[in-house]
Amino acid sequence: MKKAFVTGITGQDGSFLAELLLSKEYEVHGLMRRTSTFNRHRIHHVENIITHYGDLADASSIWKIVHEIKPDEVYHLGAQSNVNISFDMPGFTSQTNALGTLSLLEAIKGLEHPAKFYMAASSEMFGGTPPPQNEQSIFRPRSVYAISKVFGFDATRLYREAYNMFASNGILFNHESERRGENFVTRKITLGIAKIKAGLMNKLYMGNLDAERDWGYAPEYVEAMWKMLQHDKPDDFVIATGTSHSVKEFVQEAFAYAGLGDWKSYVVDNDPRFLRPTEVDALTGDPSKAKKELGWEPKVTFKDLVKIMVDLDMPRFGITPHGEGITLLGKRFQNHFWNHDLARYD
Ligand code: NAP
Ligand code: GDD
Repeated sequence: MKKAFVTGITGQDGSFLAELLLSKEYEVHGLMRRTSTFNRHRIHHVENIITHYGDLADASSIWKIVHEIKPDEVYHLGAQSNVNISFDMPGFTSQTNALGTLSLLEAIKGLEHPAKFYMAASSEMFGGTPPPQNEQSIFRPRSVYAISKVFGFDATRLYREAYNMFASNGILFNHESERRGENFVTRKITLGIAKIKAGLMNKLYMGNLDAERDWGYAPEYVEAMWKMLQHDKPDDFVIATGTSHSVKEFVQEAFAYAGLGDWKSYVVDNDPRFLRPTEVDALTGDPSKAKKELGWEPKVTFKDLVKIMVDLDMPRFGITPHGEGITLLGKRFQNHFWNHDLARYD
């Protein structure tokens, strides 16, 4: 039985990856932060995950956990992953994403049999470089988050070259799902639609609708992570669909699919709270290398993704997809979600 250690296991990708690895009969260990609120909703249905308390900002905890588990494979997904928040919390973002990666690489290097290492790098690193972006494209980071990921990317390459470690970078473009964090744009839109349908709010306040992203479906992307560590050599791979859409197109598609008619009646754009000091205007990945060398190809299209997310968010508020009105179950949850709605979205 292979042992995998996953940082960021409570996040969107970590939860899907844990399910994938368990289906492949791995022993799955996950890093868990101690927080004052219980944050395991994405993995509470997954039995058999072995959790370890630690924090990427605490190098000693990382060293200790890695040396206790002695994993065969490490999937490093833990990060302060919100671009907008990285402008508000530059120090924490760098400590966690950049130095946290270094702590993990150092711990693995110290093992008698160093584990294979997957680094969750990001298309955000391309920043100002125009699309299409591939493994040769230049990094022009436009956020503290992107800078921290460039550090993680370079550190991963360095440990591969300097210490002969099996260390690979996945340069993943945006990938979404029904488990996406609520302050990322796609989920904010699909949750917003469900709340509008349930009569819990009537306006959705958003930032720049002109930005373009290459959006894929997260469960397919975690499969690419696993494939990278099964490849015959460590390398860097772009994982993307190869097609992009603007935020406005996502809004339009989702409101139309939900049967709400003209989105302009509900959406307020360019709200200063959601505009970033520097924006990444357009990202479109070229995944040909992953297709050729890993045999990886995405199947879920942009329209499928919108449908999946809208269909799965509506029942959370008691709305049956395309049905009118709110169910009794929905009414029971109204108070709970009403409070939640007061939170600031980024
Ligand atoms: P996510 O849902 O935001 O999950 C982030 C995870 O990191 C959570 O489990 C979080 O734990 C953990 N974490 C945050 N700070 C930590 C710290 N100081 N110590 C230990 N753990 C910490 O992110 P995701 O969407 O699954 O993305 C996974 C990874 O891929 C991230 O590194 C992200 O930057 C990268 N990435 C994502 C995308 C995308 O489109 N989703 C694209 C490219 C790259 P808590 O639950 O305790 O907060
Ligand atoms: N979050 C958010 N909220 N974004 C908005 C909003 C809003 O109200 N209105 C417009 N946007 C725009 C942002 O300005 C950005 O151009 C785009 O929507 C996507 O924003 P996010 O969904 O927050 O994702 P991101 O592209 O900044 O970052 C995500 O993808 C990266 C890969 O490219 C994150 O998952 C990163 O962790 C990941 O590395």
